[in-house]
Parts: sequence; C-alpha cells; structure tokens
Amino acid sequence: MRLCVFGVGYLGATHAACMAELGHEVLGVDIDKAKLASLEAGTVPFYEPGLEEILVRNQEAGRLRFTDSYAEAAEFGEAHFLGVGTPQKRGEYAADLSYVDSVVENLAPLLTGPTVIFGKSTVPVGTAARLGARLREIAPAGAEVELAWNPEFLREGFAIEDTLHPDRVVLGVADDSTRSEQVAREIYADILAEGMPFLVTDLATSEMVKTAANAFLATKISFINAMAELCEAAGADVTVLADAIGQDARIGRKFLNAGLGFGGGCLPKDIRAFMARAGELGADQALTFLREVDNINMRRRTRMVELAREAVGNSLLGARVAVLGAAFKPNSDDVRDSPALNVAGQIQLQGAAVTVFDPKAMENSRRLFPTLTYAESVVDACQGADVVLLLTEWAEFRQLTPADLDSVVREKYIIDGRNCLTPSQWRDAGWKYRGLGRP
Ligand code: UGA
Repeated sequence: MRLCVFGVGYLGATHAACMAELGHEVLGVDIDKAKLASLEAGTVPFYEPGLEEILVRNQEAGRLRFTDSYAEAAEFGEAHFLGVGTPQKRGEYAADLSYVDSVVENLAPLLTGPTVIFGKSTVPVGTAARLGARLREIAPAGAEVELAWNPEFLREGFAIEDTLHPDRVVLGVADDSTRSEQVAREIYADILAEGMPFLVTDLATSEMVKTAANAFLATKISFINAMAELCEAAGADVTVLADAIGQDARIGRKFLNAGLGFGGGCLPKDIRAFMARAGELGADQALTFLREVDNINMRRRTRMVELAREAVGNSLLGARVAVLGAAFKPNSDDVRDSPALNVAGQIQLQGAAVTVFDPKAMENSRRLFPTLTYAESVVDACQGADVVLLLTEWAEFRQLTPADLDSVVREKYIIDGRNCLTPSQWRDAGWKYRGLGRP
C-alpha cells in the first residue's frame, strides 16, 4: 500500500522505515526540514540500533521517501499514520496536543477521497473521538475519511524488533467504521501472519490501553524502588528480593530492577497526562496513586545525590565526581528527563566538579547541560575522582572491573545507581561499593 507517516521523530521514523521494510511504499512527512534532510541523506538523527540499515535499504529500493508537503502526502497516501509527539505542557501535567491537532487541521482539507488515518501518538482518552469529528467537519471527503487509533508500544533501543514483531496489535475503531479494520489487516498482514493477538476495540479503550500499559510499567518500577527504600532502612537486599518475588509468574521479574528509576520521553509525562485526564473526567481519585509513583521515582534521584554527598565527606563543595551514563537508559542517546543527567546537574549545583561520560548521548547532553564537563572515555571521566557514580547501565559500564579504575581515581568509591555491578568484586579489590536498596 501507499502509506504516509506524519512526524519523523523516534516513533514516526521507525514506523515509516518498518512499513517500507514490510514492502509498502512510504512517504515520511514532517515540518522539520533538518530532520527531513538528515533522513533523506540516509542518516537517522538519533541513535536507534538497526534503524539506519533499514532506512537506507528501503530508500535504495525506492520504497521510502520524505517530504514536507502535505499536498503531496494527501495525493500519495491510501492511509495515513499520525506519529507526532505529545509532550508534557510547560508547567502543567496535561499533554500538549498541538502537534497532533496541527496535522489534522492541515491534512484534512486536502482529503478528497476515501482514506483511513491511524493515530499512533500517545493521547489522552477522548482525543480520537474529538479528532474524528473534526475530520468529518473539514475534510472534503467527509465521512469517507475514517479515524482509527493504533497505539504504539515500542521501546527505544528495541524499536525495530518491537515494530516488526510486536507482542500485540491494538486497533481502536469508531462505532460507524466500515474500513479501518480491513485496511489495518492489509497493512499489517505479514505481522499478523506471525499469529500475535490483534485486538479490535472502541476508540476510547485503545487510547487507554496505551496509557494504562505505561502507568503499570511505571508503577512496577516504583514498587520495587519503594522496596529498595525499605531494604535500605532494614539492611535487606532489593536485588535478591526482586529475584525471589519475580519467580512468581503472577509478578514476573521484568521491570523490577531497582535503581535510579524511570525517565525518558514517555513514562514520566504519560503518567502525569493520565492523572490530568482523569481529573478532567471527574475520576481523579482513581489515579492519585500515580502521584505517589511519581514521588517515589523522583526520590531515587535525591537519594543518589545524598549518597554521593556522604561518599565525599558530607559536602560536595569542591569534590570531583565522575558520572557514567547520561542517556535515560542504555542503547539510547535520548536524554529527555534522564535520571542520570538530573543527578549530575543537582550534584554540580551543590558545588562539585562533575565529569560525565556516555557512549552515545554526549551531544544531546551537551545541548541540555552545557555547563557539565564531558569526558572522552570512562577512564577520562574517572580521572582523579573522589567518587564514581554509575547511573545508566550501558554494557560497557557493566563490564568494568576494579582494575580498570584502580590507578585512575583518587578515592576507590563507587555508587551503583542501577545495581548492575557485583558488589563483592569491588569490595574484594578494596573499593567502597554502594548500591541503591542494598546493604
Ligand atoms: C516505554 C515503554 O516501555 C514502551 O512500551 C512504550 O511504547 C514507550 O515507553 C512509549 O510510550 O513510547 P521507553 O521509554 O523506551 O519505553 O523505555 P523503557 O524501557 O520502558 O524504560 C523506561 C525507564 O524505566 C528507563 O529510564 C529505565 O532505566 C527505567 N527502568 C526500566 C527501571 O528503572 N527499572 C526497570 O526495571 C525497567
């Protein structure tokens, strides 16, 4: 099929490339000329393993192009995907829907024949119904334009795998829809042939599936981090606790890694937008627990700063602190609401000289926190350090051994913000080791 994908950020660029990989002809549409130029030149403007190969392969095969022209897109597309961002509004919990609204307002007047628009962005429940009504109002094709919601569950770092082999496809369709499901089945034929669940729901349920999933994941992480707080108070070990409760299939071990908590462009803003929407719907009590989930998460950052301060004799003033990791998680260069950078910034504000190293997120970090010092390597970052903080669990950091840093640091003190090192290995080599939620 001929498909358009509006928005070529993490979600849109991945979706566009993967749809082309499935054999469709795809046009990626954005208003950001710099992003378009980069993609046209075969370069992905962010780090996502495997994406560049798929991009280039499909460009060379003539199945994938980019444009800033809505007229070209309206002419070309048999179906359209909406993959623009829905960031948190400044100073509010609610999601900023201006990018989503803008695509609909600009595209709809150009739609003169039957088509389906599939929303993929994470939106507050009720948005799809509102946009559907608006489309009918302003699209020349009227009711022949259908709006369906097809939430995206991809994780950064595994975006290709999650798009081409998702664990479920969810499709919300309008009550009077006649074609959305059939068109989706055609687009996703190869994916559905693998036999994964295809759940067709009403619009509101499909929007909520996405926010509920992210709220659950955030809650799971904050649950184990609350246990970590308790373990610290009681002298217990949260990593062993997680292994033990995770054996229960009803609980499961995934997303029970205690540490510095969650960040990124999704979980934090999604739970806040979910709370804001519940308030608008008069059901705010149902989600007040998410405020606590958010609080527990933010407390982990403060705790990390406290541990660093304790490590250097209770004052960070003039201390040399090495920070390993700046991305919000490994295998990503995304620093949006990154716990690691947040901690680095707080420590610097308390008077320490902070040196940061991250395998992929240096450029983005520099842009966000230009006043931190950036090193070229782990060893470079740890030079003369009074304490080393491991804040993002890149494989390169997990594999570190005391011998790598023994002669580099000033004090042999490491704080493992992701519980990804083996404490005994460091203690046996004469290091002080602290983990979050471990004795
Ligand atoms: C998340 C969801 O996992 C995806 O399913 C969803 O599609 C996406 O948001 C989205 O809404 O677009 P992502 O933001 O890529 O994906 O990152 P996750 O892998 O979920 O990690 C989020 C944060 O939680 C990271 O900062 C990570 O370090 C932290 N985390 C994760 C923990 O602290 N502990 C864990 O056990 C797991």
